[in-house]
Amino acid sequence: MDLVLGVALWASPPCVKFPGLVVAALARRRLGAARRRRDGRAASSAASSADDGVGVDVTWREVSMTVRNGRTGMTRRVLDACSGTARAGRLVAIMGPSGAGKSSLLNALAGQVPESARVMLTGVLRANGADAGDGSGFRKAYVQQEDALYSMLTVRETLETAAKLGGSKDVKRTTETLLNDLGLAACADTRVGDAKTRGVSGGEKKRLALGVQLVGAPSVIFADEPTSGLDSFQAEKVMKTLSKLAKEHGKTVVCSIHQPRSSIVDLFDDLYLLADGRCAYFGPMSSARDWFENSADVTIPNDVNVAEYLIDIVSIDATSAETTAETSKRIDRIVKAMASNPPALAEDDVSKGLSTASDALALTGKRVGFWGQFPLLLKRSWRQVTRDKATNKVRLLTSLNSAMVFGSIFWKMKLTQTAIQDRMGLLQVSAINAAMSALMKTLTSFTKEKVIVNRERASKAYGVLPYFTSKLVAELPVGAFFPLAFGACVYPMAGLHPTLGHFARFCTILTVESFSSSALGLAISSIAPSTEAAVAMGPAVMVLFIVFGGYYVNQDNVPIYFKWLNKCSLIKWAFQGLCVNEFQGLKFETKRPFDQKTGEDVLERLSFQDATPLSSLRQQGNILSFLYLLTLYLLDTNAPKFAVMQPPPV
Ligand SMILES: Nc1ncnc2c1ncn2[C@@H]1O[C@H](COP(=O)(O)OP(=O)(O)OP(=O)(O)O)[C@@H](O)[C@H]1O
Ligand SMILES: [Mg+2]
Repeated sequence: MDLVLGVALWASPPCVKFPGLVVAALARRRLGAARRRRDGRAASSAASSADDGVGVDVTWREVSMTVRNGRTGMTRRVLDACSGTARAGRLVAIMGPSGAGKSSLLNALAGQVPESARVMLTGVLRANGADAGDGSGFRKAYVQQEDALYSMLTVRETLETAAKLGGSKDVKRTTETLLNDLGLAACADTRVGDAKTRGVSGGEKKRLALGVQLVGAPSVIFADEPTSGLDSFQAEKVMKTLSKLAKEHGKTVVCSIHQPRSSIVDLFDDLYLLADGRCAYFGPMSSARDWFENSADVTIPNDVNVAEYLIDIVSIDATSAETTAETSKRIDRIVKAMASNPPALAEDDVSKGLSTASDALALTGKRVGFWGQFPLLLKRSWRQVTRDKATNKVRLLTSLNSAMVFGSIFWKMKLTQTAIQDRMGLLQVSAINAAMSALMKTLTSFTKEKVIVNRERASKAYGVLPYFTSKLVAELPVGAFFPLAFGACVYPMAGLHPTLGHFARFCTILTVESFSSSALGLAISSIAPSTEAAVAMGPAVMVLFIVFGGYYVNQDNVPIYFKWLNKCSLIKWAFQGLCVNEFQGLKFETKRPFDQKTGEDVLERLSFQDATPLSSLRQQGNILSFLYLLTLYLLDTNAPKFAVMQPPPV
């Protein structure tokens, strides 16, 4: 079947072939995923019974993680046989020096270690005694170090959207409960904000990121450095929120933390101290001082912050060979003492006693489907695009500015022989300008948005299809506005073909080209690992399209091995359409016998004699649909994948 379909598509014309191949690949993948889901459903439903809404104890044994260096081939042990338990109603703080493995351990427990051939994760993870090594078995929230939120939505809108997508039973109540519980009621109607627009504070953003995760009614909350980048007041507020979620709602809270102040240390129930990937202490925070003094021969002065002092104790001092050897020996001694004589765990006072299923956070049990997700995501994208006044203002100003500059340079062109070149020049720079501004805007915005989408998709909030289609629809009017504004300004200034029909076609060609360019930006951003990489890749591709844009190299002279590039160049199709639209029907003044008399002569010299504005638009439409489908495919295949914990070697 695959073979027949493949041959049929291969033999079809390009406008069917490329989109068809992408759709077929996407459909094939979807079917495979559905089959895998069906096969795995039985297993995961058995595991999910571990989360019965009355508190989840997460236990890990012998968790190790090794990372192979791709260049040297050397393997490094990042986590070394770490064991411990996080119990319901308690807040466990993972602490240690920088590079000790805090984030790695947290990610391993949360099932968030990115899948890689170089990373090996082994160990046993259990939730209330049931195997949870494949990441299933309990409802969890994972709060990343970097806050990834839509900047133009208010705090309330952000929580409402998350609640609706998450399948909340009572969205209004869930939102209000979260606003109050997280101390966000005062800023509920403030926009989240970003570098361009002032919004909520860093601490409020962090609590909002936590709130977004809480709509899924998780039993276990993992937070990586929830206080990083916050001042001590905000840091304490965030930690108090996490502590409250443990104490009052029976959640199991595990967070990694760096240099907490004393008032924050007082909120920790248990401490998991890491030293170079090994467990140097795991037990109640309140027992740490006694245990270190009695079992590890470490005296902690009375007037110090215990947490900070312990981090110093398990840090390697690399100032000299002697200090390195001495501190390594001390760490070995502490790790050995921990393995042979661990502190007693606190009485199991809260675990299993408190329901984690707060009824305000109750879920309907089923998530909304495509038609439920589409309007929600459309509304969110629409708000994000239309409310971003700062970006839109800059885009409008640059469009008008370019139009003014081009319009002044090519002011009221006449029908002389020299004006032929001017017309071609103006049409080429207009095509380049429309393409470049759409490309750069997409490259910078979509790489950031992708982080949010990846996170939401990892928690299965929605599918790639409703997200992508809603985004395209929401961005359509705003995306079309800027090339139209450019066209409306430059066209009369330059004195281009003066009929309404020609003007309308000029604007349409530029608008479709700007969408194609934006689609190219989406495809590049889907594979680029960062904004910087995308911004480097995008213009490099566009320069090739400009070279084959029909102005610098005549399409009849393009070497055979570059013909395909000539066909892919969205600049070329736009330039061709603009030229045909402009030159057809024009008559030029002639002085010499070899002068070009008509616009048709000009088009023949450019090898555009057989083209029509419609055929150019059709080709642009093919490129556009191919790039949209490619982006859809790339977003689907490049969804973040996480390593599954393998059983420890026997
Ligand atoms: N996927 C990976 N590839 C290469 N090295 C890795 C990987 N994951 C972790 N490491 C290495 O493992 C060590 C521990 O990293 P980790 O991020 O867990 O430290 P950390 O204790 O969270 O540090 P920090 O306090 O600075 O955040 C680091 O040296 C890091 O470079
Ligand atoms: Mg870290």
